[in-house]
Amino acid sequence: MSYFKIADLEQYFKHTKKAVREPRKFWGKMAEEAFLWYQAPERVFEFDFTNGDIKWFMGGKLNITKNCIDRYVARKGDKNAIIFESNNPDEPTQFISYNDLYQRVCKTANVLKSLGIEKGDRVCLYLPMIPELAIAMLACARIGAIHSVIFAGFSDAAARRRIEDCGAKLVITADGGFRGDKTIKLKEVIDKAINGLDCVEKVLVVKRTNQDIPFQAEKDVWFDELYANASEECNPEIMDAEDPLFILYTSGSTGKPKGMVHTTGGYMVQTAYTFANVFDYKEEDIFWCTADLGWITGHSYMLYGALLNGATTVIHEGIPTYPTPSRYWDIIDKHKVTHFYTAPTAIRSLMTNDYSYITSHDLSSLRVLGSVGEPINEEAWHWFNDFVGKKRCPIMDTWWQTETGAILIAPLAFKTPTKPTYATLPLPGTQAVLLDEHGEEIEDFQQMGNLCIKHPWPSMARTIWGDHKRYVETYFSTFPGYYFTGDNALRDEVGYYRIVGRTDDVIIVSGHNLGTAPIEDAINQHPAVAESAIVGYPHEIKGNTMYGFISLKVEGNYRDRDNLKKEINQLIADHYGPIGKLDKIQFVDDLPKTRSGKILRRMLRAIANNQENNLGDTSTMINPEILKKIIEEKL
Ligand code: WTA
Repeated sequence: MSYFKIADLEQYFKHTKKAVREPRKFWGKMAEEAFLWYQAPERVFEFDFTNGDIKWFMGGKLNITKNCIDRYVARKGDKNAIIFESNNPDEPTQFISYNDLYQRVCKTANVLKSLGIEKGDRVCLYLPMIPELAIAMLACARIGAIHSVIFAGFSDAAARRRIEDCGAKLVITADGGFRGDKTIKLKEVIDKAINGLDCVEKVLVVKRTNQDIPFQAEKDVWFDELYANASEECNPEIMDAEDPLFILYTSGSTGKPKGMVHTTGGYMVQTAYTFANVFDYKEEDIFWCTADLGWITGHSYMLYGALLNGATTVIHEGIPTYPTPSRYWDIIDKHKVTHFYTAPTAIRSLMTNDYSYITSHDLSSLRVLGSVGEPINEEAWHWFNDFVGKKRCPIMDTWWQTETGAILIAPLAFKTPTKPTYATLPLPGTQAVLLDEHGEEIEDFQQMGNLCIKHPWPSMARTIWGDHKRYVETYFSTFPGYYFTGDNALRDEVGYYRIVGRTDDVIIVSGHNLGTAPIEDAINQHPAVAESAIVGYPHEIKGNTMYGFISLKVEGNYRDRDNLKKEINQLIADHYGPIGKLDKIQFVDDLPKTRSGKILRRMLRAIANNQENNLGDTSTMINPEILKKIIEEKL
């Protein structure tokens, strides 16, 4: 009996039990039966949560691209692997079959080889949402290079931190990118980002916008020129199951971003398994995930999970509202999209438009809807259900993280009854628990606790690149013996999970996980700024947005407060990216602090969220007198 496809809810419960009682058998059999290995795994897993040592499918030898591409070339090479819709609806759609994908990935892999890229080298990708990005990721995987995709909305400083941290030998970028009515200058950003960085030997430049760009003959290489003559065959590198597949940076609550390292075998098994089951994938389906490939959702479901199942995946370069707010609905009707997997923030932004944009569309091809990235509020859930799914399509509210690699808590389409705002049940192999502040497991209903997981799963990130100590501290030290997600959640009487939000200082704005620390770092570079603290507060469209409390050290030339606010937001845009700009900035005499000098963010969070009567214990403060004025001057 294979555990790969779950037939019904009864089987779901059976598999869940099986995965707890006999996890080696459960995962081992699935891995062996459903995938191509050069050599089957010898041991299913080993783990030690104290030291953060986790290994899956040890001794297994494989190449993930053989599982994503080669096996479907053999079976159904003419089927579309990728459907590419440009930012500009007048540009013809690109249909990339599995045969085409094979050829393009092999050629690109040979381009990388010709630049001296070998197994284990890091390659950063800073590209628009064009097929070349997906192909470059797969080309890296083909030759065993570790890809690290940097979201192309990040500033040069943010890109530099990531490129430097992983020691990338090669950066792949484009002359520019199209996004709505804007043309983004990607190459210029990369030039600044790598200025003086010794690790980067070459910059490979894809042509997208054909704009003029600065070109340095010693470092820069045109992709097209090498690609034209590259061979169409590239044997896959034989990888160990535990060899890294990619590094993807995610925000931490303190300091620099964390380079989460995902390895090959476990990631392959679990992304494929969850794609097939959560979305009830069928052979003829057209799957569209609207996330950017620069985030984990793009990695796991637009790309790897989809191709591992031999699916057709849609890649859209642009934004939901360009050239009109019917762009998404046009694409769904045009390609008869069956699965639409998006984020609450996108739903909320589309909800605010004239409803005729959506009601004028058929959308009858849709079968399953998905949501990810942040809690979906009731109103958005109902709009999604009523207007997009026309009350016919179940909504998969999928909970997971960059660190988890794959969906861990979600309904199974057409099997698990859904409930608005609940991610419902943990998938087989996910042993979720809620812990109180003492680390005791909470059994009661509707009691909020810290969401933790007490057994490893195949697709979990294995370390933070270059900083294993931080990995152990972040995920395994808060509650010894458990993986700590950093999320608060509660459970209802049937065991459905509702994810409430983050327990730390990561704020999710428009579905993007933003760490406050690097944004505060950017603000603090302003000569007038003494200190800053950012907290989140609810926003109708973005889910959350940011409120900055800033104390100044010099008035001097900065009396014009509006101008000062603009300068601060500009600094954020330059050093972090425009996505980190603050919606509200309040200048304060001082920030509330403990005696040991720690900023009391929970108080600021309460103030920004209109809960100033609920500031908690003020007795440990060194400066309680400042609170009154902060509250009075609140924006
Ligand atoms: C939040 C995205 C509520 C959560 C895949 C998590 C969610 C963080 C949901 C990870 C959901 C993700 N309901 N909250 N369905 N999905 N989150 O790393 O706080 O970008 O810890 O991964 O997003 O964000 P990340």
